[in-house]
Amino acid sequence: MNEVRANFLPSANIMVTGGAGFIGSCFIRYVLEHTNFSGRIINYDKLTYAGNLLNLEDINRKFGAARYVFERGDICDHARVEQVLKTYEITVIVHFAAESHVDRSIVGPKDFIETNVNGTFTLLEAARQFWKERTDVRFHHISTDEVFGSLGEEGYFFETTPYDPRSPYSASKAASDHIVRAYHHTYGMPVTISNCSNNYGPYQFPEKLIPLMILNAMEGKGLPVYGDGKNVRDWLYVDDHCEAIWLILLKGETGETYNIGGECEKKNIEIIENVCDLLEKMHPLQDNPLVKQAIPALKQYRDLVTFVKDRPGHDRRYAINCDKIKKTLGWIQKHDFETGLRDTIAWFLNNSAWVNSIRSKEYLQWIEKNYQR
Ligand code: NAD
Ligand code: TYD
Repeated sequence: MNEVRANFLPSANIMVTGGAGFIGSCFIRYVLEHTNFSGRIINYDKLTYAGNLLNLEDINRKFGAARYVFERGDICDHARVEQVLKTYEITVIVHFAAESHVDRSIVGPKDFIETNVNGTFTLLEAARQFWKERTDVRFHHISTDEVFGSLGEEGYFFETTPYDPRSPYSASKAASDHIVRAYHHTYGMPVTISNCSNNYGPYQFPEKLIPLMILNAMEGKGLPVYGDGKNVRDWLYVDDHCEAIWLILLKGETGETYNIGGECEKKNIEIIENVCDLLEKMHPLQDNPLVKQAIPALKQYRDLVTFVKDRPGHDRRYAINCDKIKKTLGWIQKHDFETGLRDTIAWFLNNSAWVNSIRSKEYLQWIEKNYQR
């Protein structure tokens, strides 16, 4: 089985859904620049508030239409998905497209059910009709460790841990995981699934913890810490996630699930303090006109930390065991947290055009409206 997959993958036409988002764009860049892939990537993305074609401007310029194509579309639109599958003779789908932020799912769960559940179903159904019984094809579904629920002080999520999602986001991802598995068991579709912990890195949309803290601190805005700040997440640099996905495509067994994680547990408050301390070195307050203007008396970035009302149903701890992918596929994390965080901050400091493009988008209004904590 592995040899068959290794044969067709490097020259396949791969549809990447959600390729204009944070992880999807990193995956496209990774595959085109760092693997032996010689086929074509079709980036299928609706361009919601989280999708940004600037994320792949360099790739578009460098590789051109023979290797990389963007097709705007909704995964909930069966006819459009079918058209793209047929036009490009897609044999591999790597499915990132999702509504991805827990806070938004609390304020408005409908889009999460629509895209994450119905959209995944629509994509699977279109692929099933197009691929029929073919086995030289693959549907890889990107999921999250949040489907497993919340841990206490001890223990880890394994691939076999029963699902126990708590937020509308994680429940919608859990539902989609189950539907993907059902297509494997019922119709024999060659699927693989990966459940990954919290990612961070360049291009991450600044509603998630790390980029939000970096940008708020750079501008002298408050750093909102939910609850006591002691909730724990496991952090993985985004490139390591993308490498793991590529390995699963190349060597993973169909029907299997792989946990991916950083083995890097951090309390939220630690992360925020790390960001502040690195910023003191990389962008000292005295050289920061925005902060000087906003809060002339500010002594250190850490003084921006503001404890706010907790997120409803806030999962306490996530920790993932990723021995399976390490042992069976030989994957390993390459980026340690300190270097990864420094590189991420440097990227945000050096990419003001990207930051400004995000600022002009609808999300700012959303943040203003919903983040009055
Ligand atoms: P993101 O929010 O940055 O990007 C999502 C992308 O999907 C955007 O480009 C958006 O335009 C697109 N999209 C949304 N709805 C769509 C639709 N109906 N049709 C087509 N495109 C649509 O998300 P991300 O952080 O890159 O996450 C990607 C995937 O990885 C998601 O499935 C998420 O659940 C999963 N994941 C994320 C993390 C993390 O830490 N960010 C961790 C584990 C798993
Ligand atoms: P987030 O980046 O939203 O990812 P997820 O909820 O999927 O883990 O949040 C990471 C952690 O940081 C989570 O415990 C919530 C917390 N958090 C804050 O304390 N303040 C914030 O402003 C945000 C966005 C998150």
